[in-house]
Amino acid sequence: MTERQPGFATRSVHAGQDPDLQTGAVVPPIHMATTFLQDGVGNLRGFEYGRTGNPTRQRLAECLAALEEARHCCAFSSGMAATAAVMMLLEPGDHVVLTDDVYGGTYRLLDAVLSRFGLRFTSVDASDLAALNAACEPSTKLLWVESPTNPLLRVVDIAAAAHIAHEHGALLAVDSTFASPALQRPLALGADIVVHSSTKFLGGHSDVLGGAVLTSDDSVAERVRFQQNAVGAVPSPFDCWLLLRGIRTLEVRVRRQSESALTIAHWLLEHPLVQRVHYPGVAADGARSLAERQMLGGFGGVLSFDVSDAHRAKEVLAKLRLITLAESLGAVESLAESPALMTHASVPEEVRRKAGLSNGLIRLSVGLEDVDDLIGDLDQALD
Ligand SMILES: Cc1ncc(COP(=O)(O)O)c(C=O)c1O
Repeated sequence: MTERQPGFATRSVHAGQDPDLQTGAVVPPIHMATTFLQDGVGNLRGFEYGRTGNPTRQRLAECLAALEEARHCCAFSSGMAATAAVMMLLEPGDHVVLTDDVYGGTYRLLDAVLSRFGLRFTSVDASDLAALNAACEPSTKLLWVESPTNPLLRVVDIAAAAHIAHEHGALLAVDSTFASPALQRPLALGADIVVHSSTKFLGGHSDVLGGAVLTSDDSVAERVRFQQNAVGAVPSPFDCWLLLRGIRTLEVRVRRQSESALTIAHWLLEHPLVQRVHYPGVAADGARSLAERQMLGGFGGVLSFDVSDAHRAKEVLAKLRLITLAESLGAVESLAESPALMTHASVPEEVRRKAGLSNGLIRLSVGLEDVDDLIGDLDQALD
C-alpha cells in the first residue's frame, strides 16, 4: 500500500517545520549567520554563504514545495524578484506572451526594463485560448499567465494554456498569487513554473515581502538557483521565518476569506451603484465552471467591482472606515484600492482600457473581519 500524503493543512503546519534537532524548540530558530564554518576547504556542513543558501530559507523552500507539490522551490526577496528571475532565463530576441490583465509591476518589468535587454512581449487576454494561441510566435519561449488575474479576476484555463505553450516549444509560468497553493496547484495542471508574491496570502499579515519560484523541472530549477545566487535577490532569514509562521494558518485563512468574498460579491451584485462585479464565484457560467474545476474548494479572497468613474471610485475609497485604503492583498485585514490610480498606474491607460480595466474599478481584498461588518462598511461608503 502506498503511504498517503499528508493533507494540505497538515503540510502547512509541518512541512519544513520540524522541531529544532539540537534544542527541541518546537518553532525552528532563525539562522542569521551570513557565512558557515568549513571543515577544510570546500568541506561544507550543508551551507557556505548566506546569499547561496541559509537554513531558515531552506525550511521555507521545503514548505512551499510541499504545498505546491513541486520538486523545487527557490524563495526570493519579493514577488517581483521571483518574476524577474524567471524572465531572466530568457535570451535577447526571445518573445513572451503575457496576460493582458496582469499585475502592473509585471507589465512594467517587461515594458520598461527587460525590453532594454532585447526581450519582446505581446499582451493578450489569456482567458481567450484562441487569442493566446494566435499570439505565439516562432521565438516565443514563455507564456506568462495569472489566474485569477489581477485585478479583473479572470480565470485562465491552465491545462489548456500549458498545452498551447508546449505545442509552441515554450514554457508556461503561472503567477498563482491570487489563488495561493490552498486553492490552486498549476504544476499538477501542466504548468512548468509557478510564481508567488508571498507578500500576499502566504505571509497573510501585511508584514513581510517575499516571492517564490516553484518547478518540478530540474534544469529550470538549477538555472533559477544559479541566477538567484548571481544576482542576489534573497530574502532575509527573519522574513523567511515570518513567512513560515504565516503559512501555518494559510488554509483556514483562505477558506474564510473565500467564503466572505463570495458573500460580498453577491451583495455587491444587488447594489444599484455597482455596475459590474468581477469574481470567479459570480462569473458567467463558463468561467465559473472552469474555476470550480480548476480551483480547490473556493474562489479566493479578492474581488473587484466597477462604479461609474475614477471620481466616484475615489469617493467610495475615501469613505471606507473599517476597510483600509491601501495597496496589496491577501492579509488578515481587508484592503481596498483603485487599480487605475494605484497598483496598475504603470500600465498605459490605453492598454488598461483594452484589457477592460476601467478607471472606476475598485479592488477589494477581503480579510478575516466579520463579513457583516465589511458589508456595513461598503454600504455606508457606497451610500
Ligand atoms: C499577482 C501579483 N504578482 C506579483 C506581485 C509582485 O509582488 P511583490 O509586491 O511581492 O514584489 C504582485 C503584487 O501586488 C501581484 O499582485
